[in-house]
Amino acid sequence: MANASLKIDDKEYPLPVITGTEGEKAIDTRRLRAETGYIAYDQGYGNTGSCESAITFLDGDNGILRHRGYPIEQLAQHSDFVETAYLIIYGELPNAAKRKEFGLLLRKNAAIETQMQKIFEGFPKGAPPMAMLSSIVGSLAAHYPELATNDFEKDLKNFDLAAAMAISKVRTIGAMLYRYQRGLPYVFPKQDLPFCENFLHMMFSEPYKDYVAAPEVAKALNLLLLLHADHEQNCSTSTVRMVGSSAANLFTSISAGISALSGPLHGGANSAVMHMLQAIHDEGDDGTRFIAAAKSGSKSNRLMGFGHAVYKNFDPRAKIIGKACDDVLNKLGIKDPLLAIAKNLEQAALHDDYFVSRKLYPNVDFYSGIIMRALGIPMNMFTVMFAIGRTPGQIANWRELASNPKGRIYRPRQVYVGPVKREYVPIAQRT
Ligand code: CMC
Repeated sequence: MANASLKIDDKEYPLPVITGTEGEKAIDTRRLRAETGYIAYDQGYGNTGSCESAITFLDGDNGILRHRGYPIEQLAQHSDFVETAYLIIYGELPNAAKRKEFGLLLRKNAAIETQMQKIFEGFPKGAPPMAMLSSIVGSLAAHYPELATNDFEKDLKNFDLAAAMAISKVRTIGAMLYRYQRGLPYVFPKQDLPFCENFLHMMFSEPYKDYVAAPEVAKALNLLLLLHADHEQNCSTSTVRMVGSSAANLFTSISAGISALSGPLHGGANSAVMHMLQAIHDEGDDGTRFIAAAKSGSKSNRLMGFGHAVYKNFDPRAKIIGKACDDVLNKLGIKDPLLAIAKNLEQAALHDDYFVSRKLYPNVDFYSGIIMRALGIPMNMFTVMFAIGRTPGQIANWRELASNPKGRIYRPRQVYVGPVKREYVPIAQRT
């Protein structure tokens, strides 16, 4: 066991070392302030372990992502979204009986009740979909107060039902808000359809003409959602834990996570990528202008879909989705000029010292938009799709937090750099 110590002036403080099951090492600073008077400063928490977690292992330097020990490559190849959701939430792959039971619970809890449907009408037609999604998901706490107590133990007793509702209803709400925004009548879920097929049915069915998803379309959607199912302590999942740590219920915590996901540096990057590719296409540029602008260092000119807070070699999800993009478009017989632009841009960036030296590689969002476009999902729904996919990870993290009897409310500290104490000045004396 390694030892760590911190020397401040002449005094040395031993610090415990924690080692994870994959050999990840951490210096335990929980007693740092109490013992030394100092806090650890880590702007953006990039170097801070906020919890111990048994859900997802991510090694950004080596491009490794595993859920409950299973490599993402194997899950992408053999599993589907619902099975992976079960694994992420409950820790084990379900046997046939448990898989059936879980699927049934999702199917039974897919619908949005009449009273809740009225919430949609309170939004303007052009409202940002993620703003609608987080509000409507938050309202589940009001509609199912018996499942949303602010008591961890009671919440956990209701957990299975609340979790199934969250996964199933986030998906239904996503499809309904799509239709609401287009002035189309809602299409309600069918109990006999699997998860992804049901979503596509609710999105794209027409009067007297049910949408029946082609197997390759359902498979592509399954893959897309599965690849987003969890991603360790990212911005939105940490938000779920932050909110949940105050003993807030599952629905409220997920709604906060969805809000965090809406930003263009996080879940909003997938549509930003498509805007960028479309602009390159419209301008007839080969991407040179965008690459040059991205190298200026300005945050607003970043090459969207490139770089990652933790992957500094490659994003394993991007490898899987990049290949799936080719397969799906081939199978559906679609020739998307944006795919060719994306590939050229990727090659140009991968041979440019600015990107190479900063270890900036395509992330999962670089190609996911092209798949969604092929499935007929409009750009302003892309982040909603990410949110639907991410629900299992948020639920699992909330559960892990709520089950920990030693859990504390999240309350980071700060280094104050504002004015020092000064006396109040009456308004008449102010210059
Ligand atoms: N284009 C151009 N330069 C970039 C980019 C980019 N996409 N990303 C980072 N950089 C530069 C950055 O300006 C900095 O340069 P310098 O060292 O000269 O100051 C350097 O690379 C290191 O960047 P960083 O800000 O330390 O990186 P970060 O780890 O804080 O940010 C990120 C990660 C994902 C927010 C960022 O790479 C980014 O904004 N990418 C574009 C948005 C995007 O695709 N987001 C989706 C992430 S994947 C989905 C998810 O899991 O949420």
